[in-house]
Amino acid sequence: MAEQLFFDANTSKAERYQQLVPQLKALISVEDNLIANLANIAAALKEAMGFFWVGFYLAEDESTLVLGPFQGPIACTRIHKGKGVCGTVFENKETLLVPDVDAFPGHIACSSASRSEIVLPALYPDGRVAMVLDVDSDQLDDFDQDDQQGLEQLMRVIEAKL
Ligand code: SME
Repeated sequence: MAEQLFFDANTSKAERYQQLVPQLKALISVEDNLIANLANIAAALKEAMGFFWVGFYLAEDESTLVLGPFQGPIACTRIHKGKGVCGTVFENKETLLVPDVDAFPGHIACSSASRSEIVLPALYPDGRVAMVLDVDSDQLDDFDQDDQQGLEQLMRVIEAKL
């Protein structure tokens, strides 16, 4: 596939996810290197959705996430299981939508500009967490069910390559 994304910047967020996810599926279908694929996915999400910070934290072992491909300001490199939003998703294996990060116990403030976030896990076939996708906004309450549904579809596409 051409190394270019097609999406309608003027359409709804839900529609943009519907345009984006099949293109990302096609893009990663022709490449087996995980880091290369995650790097392109982070760049595509930044370009299509305009996120403040978007990237992956990869499970290094049972207890630690380490920073992977991302777009945005520099970020914390390691997050322990149960710590902050990412560490909680690592532990519970379920998407977390946090409308106000200051109200989330133990939130890890990598950037003081971050106000809301959504974090989603991708699992190996055996159920272990392979990584989490972390998307941060500098606006309060910036994520909704459209983001959750669109990004969960993307995580299923990523899981299919694990
Ligand atoms: N928001 C995350 C930390 C990572 S950064 O913000 C990029 C958390 O509390 O898990």
